[in-house]
Amino acid sequence: MSWYSWWSGSLGPRGEKFQTNGEGSGEKSEKQQGVALVIGVTGIVGNCLAEILPLSDTPRGPWKVYGVARRPKPDWSPDSPVEYIQCDVLDRELTLEKISPLKDVTHLFWVVWVSRETEEQNCEDNGRMLSNVLDALLPNAENLQHICLQTGAKHYLGPFDAAARNRCFQPHEAPYHEELPRLPVPNFYYTLEDIVFEAAKKKDGLTWSIHRPAAIIGFSPWSLMNVLGTLCVYAAICKHEGLPFKYPGNTISWEQFMDASDAELIAEQEIWAATDPYAKNQAFNCSNGDVFKWKRLWRIIAEKFDLEPLPREGEGFSLAEAMKDKGPVWDAIVGENKLYPTKIEEVGNWWFADFVLNVPWEPVFSMNKSKEYGFFGFRNTETSVGQWIDKIRASNIVP
Ligand SMILES: NC(=O)c1ccc[n+]([C@@H]2O[C@H](COP(=O)([O-])OP(=O)(O)OC[C@H]3O[C@@H](n4cnc5c(N)ncnc54)[C@H](OP(=O)(O)O)[C@@H]3O)[C@@H](O)[C@H]2O)c1
Repeated sequence: MSWYSWWSGSLGPRGEKFQTNGEGSGEKSEKQQGVALVIGVTGIVGNCLAEILPLSDTPRGPWKVYGVARRPKPDWSPDSPVEYIQCDVLDRELTLEKISPLKDVTHLFWVVWVSRETEEQNCEDNGRMLSNVLDALLPNAENLQHICLQTGAKHYLGPFDAAARNRCFQPHEAPYHEELPRLPVPNFYYTLEDIVFEAAKKKDGLTWSIHRPAAIIGFSPWSLMNVLGTLCVYAAICKHEGLPFKYPGNTISWEQFMDASDAELIAEQEIWAATDPYAKNQAFNCSNGDVFKWKRLWRIIAEKFDLEPLPREGEGFSLAEAMKDKGPVWDAIVGENKLYPTKIEEVGNWWFADFVLNVPWEPVFSMNKSKEYGFFGFRNTETSVGQWIDKIRASNIVP
């Protein structure tokens, strides 16, 4: 899509006319070429940042991009000029060694997380990763200007961790808006926010933005939470075994309005916030701006895999349970179709699909604040789902 769909002047949050391309800011730094450090570059949004930032018509582009992940650069990642750095940012010594020399970084994009048993452990390890990277950057990257922190809906819903969920708290009611107070439970998103706020106090002029997507629709076989990729793997298994393509979720997700976040749209919002003076030091929801019903998406997915789109029936079932013995079936599908080699544990995030398709309420985000501040990006979710399935297939991840 063209940048101009969200990059035009608009009425600002305080009612004044402003330009969102940095021209009106009078700050030289707003026009200089950006140097991005993307932590989690092979993830579902990291991938999109790696693709969009180096383009010449990206604001402050073409960006120089450093991209970090633990595994070696995969063959399926975008063919873009990213300087790839293999580093586990949980390892403090290694992080200081690899990140401290990146003295020209101007913007940090935090699109990474690790998953632990309890939310306390999530707070500990995810917080440690961000502190390690900031400890490497703050004394060395003199021109560091902005931190984009990606969190998500659990800001309003509370953590996945069952023990934390059993504590006495009520998730917020949708539509979620950015000014809702924090919930009284541990949440690694809150830990990350606090670390960013402290970092901004330590360095003059360092700004931040926080981005809160709903379930992300995109592409990465290495994502911990890729609901569409997971459903494509499920569809491929149904096709291979001649099984009916049954909807595993509840009636709420099938019948009621849901929202989702296109991975590319999130990357666009993050770049907008990183480069627009009016977006600084703010949290923004990031959903597609429309609503959809899974019953319609189910038809789209079924048609892409040449399966019959069955109506939802009965109690629903757990994909994690139904797919637990399908590793050898997936290996056969990969082998027979000469797919990019993946294990079912990587590409089938069954627990996450079970979570998304069994939400007990309509989890709809408000996009008002984002629009009021000047970001007008949106996606048609039904179109987006079709396009991402084509991309997953073109990348040889599913047949
Ligand atoms: N996915 C969703 O649907 C969704 C929805 C709402 C909110 N969110 C939130 O968005 C944030 C980012 O998640 P995401 O889903 O975009 O990420 P993701 O797709 O799971 O990608 C994670 C990336 O980080 C890398 N990584 C993981 N641990 C690392 C480490 N210790 N050191 C260096 N790199 C590491 C991974 O590659 P390696 O494994 O090779 O290191 C991968 O590139 C999280 O807070 C998540 O809760 C996600």
